[in-house]
Amino acid sequence: MTVFIPQNELSDENIAAAGEILRRGGLVVFPTETVYGLGANALDGKAAKKIYAAKGRPSDNPLIVHIASPKDAEDIACTNEAYYKLASAFMPGPLTVILPKREVIPSATSGGLDTVGVRCPSHPVAHRLILSAGVPIAAPSANLSGKPSPTKADHIRADLEGKVDMILDGGEAAVGVESTIVKLDADGTATLLRPGGITHEMLQRVLGRVDIASAVTEALPKDARPLSPGMKYRHYAPRAPLTLLDGDDARRIAYCQKAPADTLLLVFDEETDLFAGHKVVPLGKKADKQSQLHRLFAALIEADAEDPRQILAPLPATDGLSLALYNRLCRAAAHHIKKL
Ligand code: TXA
Ligand code: MG
Repeated sequence: MTVFIPQNELSDENIAAAGEILRRGGLVVFPTETVYGLGANALDGKAAKKIYAAKGRPSDNPLIVHIASPKDAEDIACTNEAYYKLASAFMPGPLTVILPKREVIPSATSGGLDTVGVRCPSHPVAHRLILSAGVPIAAPSANLSGKPSPTKADHIRADLEGKVDMILDGGEAAVGVESTIVKLDADGTATLLRPGGITHEMLQRVLGRVDIASAVTEALPKDARPLSPGMKYRHYAPRAPLTLLDGDDARRIAYCQKAPADTLLLVFDEETDLFAGHKVVPLGKKADKQSQLHRLFAALIEADAEDPRQILAPLPATDGLSLALYNRLCRAAAHHIKKL
């Protein structure tokens, strides 16, 4: 049975009950500022395994470990100077840093790797929950494996009701896409593995050079072993084929207007009236990348629910916050891009 705690009942008692569930090896879904997380005690391999079962997630895909304060990374990872530079600039916040793991992190949590992803979320409910649990919390996004990450508690109830012990409703997630992931190697190399609300440009301002893993912008060659195991799995995908349109607005709009009637169009808020014969789902305001990130997964879920024959969407740029949109949409589209 899943206990659902609505947003207006996030009392200290209920958060304490959630912490107790985690300490005893159970599963709790909780809000973060990026997307909802499906949490278990990160130090308990058996509990971590339950996450994989509930999500249908391949067991070689490691979990991110959530901590209450940047210095708590000392207990679970081997930190370095670059970590503390990133921590003082961006933590708490939507950033995950990959570091060598300490032995307390079981291999079920790290997906068999000798590294661990450390994240200090800024969402007050996440923070209260970690403190109440008294242990670091391993949590992937609270979606079934391969589906878009949930930004609202409704999305989760559909997927995980009955598979977890408790769901904490914290309202809509603010950022809307998962944390930026950066890997720090012993030789000082920093590599961006997943773009998010903390941009490549922001990371470079703090660390100097930061490489971008090729899987961020390109399709992985078959049988490749990516730096981040999650990169090799199909992700965020609606059931209907999604095609990204590479061309200026006028061409894209004209192309969409001529598409077959059973095509669903993902378009900017300002454009929704231009497509009389089609179902449209708004993607956020055209000039406001933050609003597009915030809308992205909900838009993909809404598009999927309409059960269209195909979906068309604009191809984002690759600078600033757009890189996160580009990366998620390209993966949802299995890199299917049409040049106009
Ligand atoms: O915003 C977020 O990061 C959310 C919230 C809940 O915190 N969590 C999240 O977790 O997105 P998940 O499991 O959906 O995505 C984690 C990604 C996966 O692609 C995984 O392969 C990668 O991070 N990852 C985790 N640990 C890693 C490690 N040690 N080395 C390389 N990649 C790692
Ligand atoms: Mg995920």
